Amino acid sequence: MYKVVTKRFLNDAKTICLFEIEAPLIARHAQAGQFVIFRLDEQGERVPVSVAGYDREKGTVSVMVQAAGRTTRMLHTVEEGDYITDIAGPLGKATEMDGLKKVCVVGGGVGCAIAYPIAKEMHERGIEVTFIAGFRSADIVILKEELKAASNKLIICTDDGSYGEKGFTTVFLKREIEENIEKGLPQFDRVVAIGPDIMMKFLADVTRPYEIKTIISLDPIMVDGTGMCGGCRVIVGGETKFACVDGPDFDAHQVDFDSLIKRSAFYREEQDAAAQHICRMTGGKRNG
Ligand code: FES
Repeated sequence: MYKVVTKRFLNDAKTICLFEIEAPLIARHAQAGQFVIFRLDEQGERVPVSVAGYDREKGTVSVMVQAAGRTTRMLHTVEEGDYITDIAGPLGKATEMDGLKKVCVVGGGVGCAIAYPIAKEMHERGIEVTFIAGFRSADIVILKEELKAASNKLIICTDDGSYGEKGFTTVFLKREIEENIEKGLPQFDRVVAIGPDIMMKFLADVTRPYEIKTIISLDPIMVDGTGMCGGCRVIVGGETKFACVDGPDFDAHQVDFDSLIKRSAFYREEQDAAAQHICRMTGGKRNG
């Protein structure tokens, strides 16, 4: 059992919540870019979430969770002092940062929560970080102060212009790349993008002509998180890879986004149907 020591909603809409959880073994080994899988009870769905932070001395890990499905909505009702049945991790590979000098990190919506610890660690290592944070509207903007502290330049944009600059992350990424060229500044030696699949696909299209290596963190459906079930498979460079053990980071210019988006849509429909299913044995809805 793992104790929740801190719980804090991150946006006005209360759709994204930070949990700091006592898990000393995970805290000892966790690195930016990795994830954990939690279960709320023994029959519960296994839900992967990225590590948003860790405190090795306190023995805690932090995760930021968006209430998107039945289990994540249930997690949002867990309070400080309550316990979570299981957390497994850290899983996946840490984000590669060695040798980088200038990076643009792009987060879309809750993807900013995953991108934040990566930007923070890069910034602490002396890498110049431009952070582009995109949201649909002002009420779901998160981590304003944290992102500012973790970057040399922060651009917050919203689709409707209700906070920060108006427009999509792709527009601002292109603007920053072009500005580097026009002013004779060093170009980004890496772009790291985390957010909805469609956003990452279009960001990859922006960087491709400039030949800027672009890394995305994938979040496909996962079950075991250890490379056994094949649920998280993605096609990268024409080969099948498993996001849980080969990723979650992949070269965006090699990812087959069309099959990824199709698979995600299929599972979303299945999950919605399963959440509505009434069990004839128990009369209840399934937990997942
Ligand atoms: S989650 Fe099962 S193979 Fe990756």
